[in-house]
Amino acid sequence: MTPQEFLSQISLNTARFERVAAFAGVPGFLSWQEGYALLTLAEEWPAEGDVVEIGSFKGRSTCFLAQGCATSGRGVVYAVDHFEGSPEHQKGGHEETAEIVNEGTTYGAFTQNIAAAGLQAHVRPLVGSGVDVARDFTGQARMLFIDGDHSFDGTQADFDAWFPFVADTGLICFHDYQNSHYLDGVTRFIETVIMQHPQMIFLHRADSLMTFMKKAA
Ligand SMILES: C[S@@+](CC[C@H](N)C(=O)[O-])C[C@H]1O[C@@H](n2cnc3c(N)ncnc32)[C@H](O)[C@@H]1O
Repeated sequence: MTPQEFLSQISLNTARFERVAAFAGVPGFLSWQEGYALLTLAEEWPAEGDVVEIGSFKGRSTCFLAQGCATSGRGVVYAVDHFEGSPEHQKGGHEETAEIVNEGTTYGAFTQNIAAAGLQAHVRPLVGSGVDVARDFTGQARMLFIDGDHSFDGTQADFDAWFPFVADTGLICFHDYQNSHYLDGVTRFIETVIMQHPQMIFLHRADSLMTFMKKAA
């Protein structure tokens, strides 16, 4: 079966939609269509390994990914974030965030939201920058979700640091493609690097979530 045939079989199913709807109250930046795609791919994509997320914030995307791991009984989500927020979450930023301004971290909100969803057993937080955490990582990812530093150089650094851990036939997903705030960042990175990359095959788009498959070198 080709990847495209696999994806064409993923249709809206009621039980999965209910799992997606359960996270409606978790604050964050993913639409339900993006959450549906993350949950489905974490649950069903047949590559070997765990799931790695760069940029967890308050745990919204983490919940979708962890639920996919829980339902399929396959692995955990490594949730990588320094939890200090991006420039846009600081005071005066276009996504100013109370926890960042008042406490300097979203880690407390993250752990509360994961616990409230009952997903602690499926989440391993790794606190630090994407590049620093990668230096000590020894696992393999069937799926890598990149939603951390949205600048061109930051996205490149996370991609370069984590690409070696992604299994052949594993997935790499990027959030905020064509978001007007990040046209010169993650959008330009996807268009000039990822879409030209000899090992990246475009599979699927849901809103701003772009999913590629890594093929063997
Ligand atoms: C847009 S938010 C992530 C949103 C989250 N995925 C959601 O579903 O709501 C970006 C997150 O990336 C984190 N971040 C920024 N730069 C980072 C880096 N270099 N390494 C790891 N995390 C980073 C920030 O602390 C912030 O929590």
